[in-house]
Amino acid sequence: MTPDISLSQVPAHARHGSSIGRPLTRREGVLKVTGVARYAADNHPAGMLYAVLAASRIARGRVTCLDVPAAMAHPGVVAVMTPANRPALALDPDAKLHPFMFRLDLLQSDAVRYANQPIAVVIAETLEAATEGAALLAPRYEALPARVGLDAGESFVPPVVGVGHPAEQLVGDVEAGLASAARRVDATYETPAQYHNAMEPHAVVAAWDGDSLSLDMPSQGMAMAQARLAGLLGIAPENIMIRSPFLGGGFGSKGLIAGPQVLGILAARLVGRPVKLVLRREQMYGPVGHRPPTRQRLRIGAGADGTLTALAHHALITTSTFDDFFEPAADASHTLYASPAIATSHTAVRIDTGTPMFMRAPGEATGSIALESAIDEAALACRMDPLAFRLKNYAEVEPISGKPFSSKALRACYAQGADRFGWAGRPLAPRQMRDAAGMLVGWGMGTATFPALMFQAEARAVIRRNGGGVVEIGAHDMGQGAWTALAQIAADAVGLGIEQLEFRSGTSDLPDGGIAGGSAHTATAGMAIHAAGGEAVARLAELAMDDARSPLFGAGNAGVVARDGRLFRRDDESRSESYADILTRAGLAQVEGRGKSGGDPAAQTAYAMHAHGAVFAEVKVDPDLGQLRVTRLVGAFAAGRIINPRMVRSQYYGGMIWGMAFALHEEAVTDRRSGRMLNANLADYHIPVNADVPEMEALLVEEHDPHVNALGIKGVGEIAITGTGGAVANAVWHATGMRARRFPIRIDDLV
Ligand code: MOS
Repeated sequence: MTPDISLSQVPAHARHGSSIGRPLTRREGVLKVTGVARYAADNHPAGMLYAVLAASRIARGRVTCLDVPAAMAHPGVVAVMTPANRPALALDPDAKLHPFMFRLDLLQSDAVRYANQPIAVVIAETLEAATEGAALLAPRYEALPARVGLDAGESFVPPVVGVGHPAEQLVGDVEAGLASAARRVDATYETPAQYHNAMEPHAVVAAWDGDSLSLDMPSQGMAMAQARLAGLLGIAPENIMIRSPFLGGGFGSKGLIAGPQVLGILAARLVGRPVKLVLRREQMYGPVGHRPPTRQRLRIGAGADGTLTALAHHALITTSTFDDFFEPAADASHTLYASPAIATSHTAVRIDTGTPMFMRAPGEATGSIALESAIDEAALACRMDPLAFRLKNYAEVEPISGKPFSSKALRACYAQGADRFGWAGRPLAPRQMRDAAGMLVGWGMGTATFPALMFQAEARAVIRRNGGGVVEIGAHDMGQGAWTALAQIAADAVGLGIEQLEFRSGTSDLPDGGIAGGSAHTATAGMAIHAAGGEAVARLAELAMDDARSPLFGAGNAGVVARDGRLFRRDDESRSESYADILTRAGLAQVEGRGKSGGDPAAQTAYAMHAHGAVFAEVKVDPDLGQLRVTRLVGAFAAGRIINPRMVRSQYYGGMIWGMAFALHEEAVTDRRSGRMLNANLADYHIPVNADVPEMEALLVEEHDPHVNALGIKGVGEIAITGTGGAVANAVWHATGMRARRFPIRIDDLV
């Protein structure tokens, strides 16, 4: 399953790289399984106190009374932080100076805008005392009726959706396309609110030293957190040290610093001692983001032969009353299927909820499950096999923009996935297959896609005379394997074996590693590393090529190759020199290179850049009880160069599991009267456990992309959740003949 990676796209100095493409195990694996890896909340600086949040039990209104004296009287309680004594901030937490500045609840008033909003912080000598103190606050409220759900108010067209996309986009004439269609589908799908539920709750251990701040805090974007904190606290970013070597997951919720983490920092300022604050699981359902619910209407027109004539995708979404994150659900219809007319649109409703946030393919996952279900319905309307229908409408250029794809191996994904799954011969009609035990068997499929993005990052590389090297970047390993994959890129970039390389990462004093989000961390941080390593190697090459004593003398521009701690003449590999010899002769202890990520701006404009995949699902349904199991998942994905097939396969498995969870498990339930969460815990909020996870296969489909970036890396973190939800839903229909259009699919939808 490991693709045969062509090295032709690797620039000269890394052409014979020995690390990229190897299925190395996680560098931190032993640390993690032996419990040595230190997560934020494992830190206990001397004199540390414990902070516990008190969170609102109403969704809208204000806090009228907190029994601070009762909490303070409890043994061990040191302070209670409320709006009355919270240390001053240099910036209003409700200020929004740019679209990425999310509004935070930092005890700026007694107003309550959602359930589980922080309303006070109790700081004590022990966790128990702080917890008891928080309970003794016994808040009283003036509650207003909570606005809950998609029908809670007037909808409006958001200014933009996602990261600055237009809320409405149109090519061609959708109404004409629908009117002329021989077959039509008009179906509305609902998806629920979902919460990130990373294993590790948001946490911070904060210690002040004058105006300098030291933080142990999980982060998917340390430089952004540093900048946000500097603004709020009125101190210089370089006075803030963030250590985030390991994250117990993030899924988007640790991309931007969350309000409760800032409150932990303010608590430490208030008491003048280090403070630890860790959210309790139920407190994660409110102030740290979520995926909003959607209602999506898909209208599809097709000719009698199955050729699409129109595709219209409208999404109604919710957001908070006080901020502006709009899930770009309908944008899923921009890239996948060729149609002469495509219209996407969004409207939003403001409800009494915490502000939604990026979560596991924000928009792509939400839109995908609706689009892939509707495409399945359209295939049926045309009496066509769902795969044949998708191939009939295969997009040779990006449908919404008309741009060519930088690369697109989706046909190969369809072919390899279908072959592996055994799709051929699938009966068109539902309820045709049973297993030996009499269970209904259904097969469904979906197409996966995710944009290939790249952000800003910087890196530093050092090659030493003693034969070693160092690469430094403040990158983020949130469990995805970044530490391993980026070290592989680093080793090849400096032409050293991975064992010779010291790879430093995970703290904010290193060069800015960008954001671990948008499935773009490997491309972003990897390209910065690649550039920094390339510069260090170029320095060495200059030293050698300019020196008549070197076997490389006169090799000329780009005339050398770096590997195994040596430079080789490209035209005559028998002529080489070790890094140690070059540096010794030059009288240098080391050379250094710095680099930034970045692609070719012309290519970024000229091409549509996406990863693609195809997912095939088998489900079994008890015909009497409606009980439902996913029994097989096969995904085939093409995402450019694969740095580490083991890590990538693991990312695909994770994505497919979350896709299954989207179809069958995850749903946050809000009480309609109080606006409070009814299932804010991992017992009642269903996520797949081992017993739910079927036999899975993830095929790595070969793809060479000469345009995305010099390394040919797309991204693998989020694509596999797309396609999978639809594949499972379509398999449920194929097993039962019942089309569930509200997710997650429940047993009562099937009996
Ligand atoms: Mo991801 S939702 O881009 O962290």
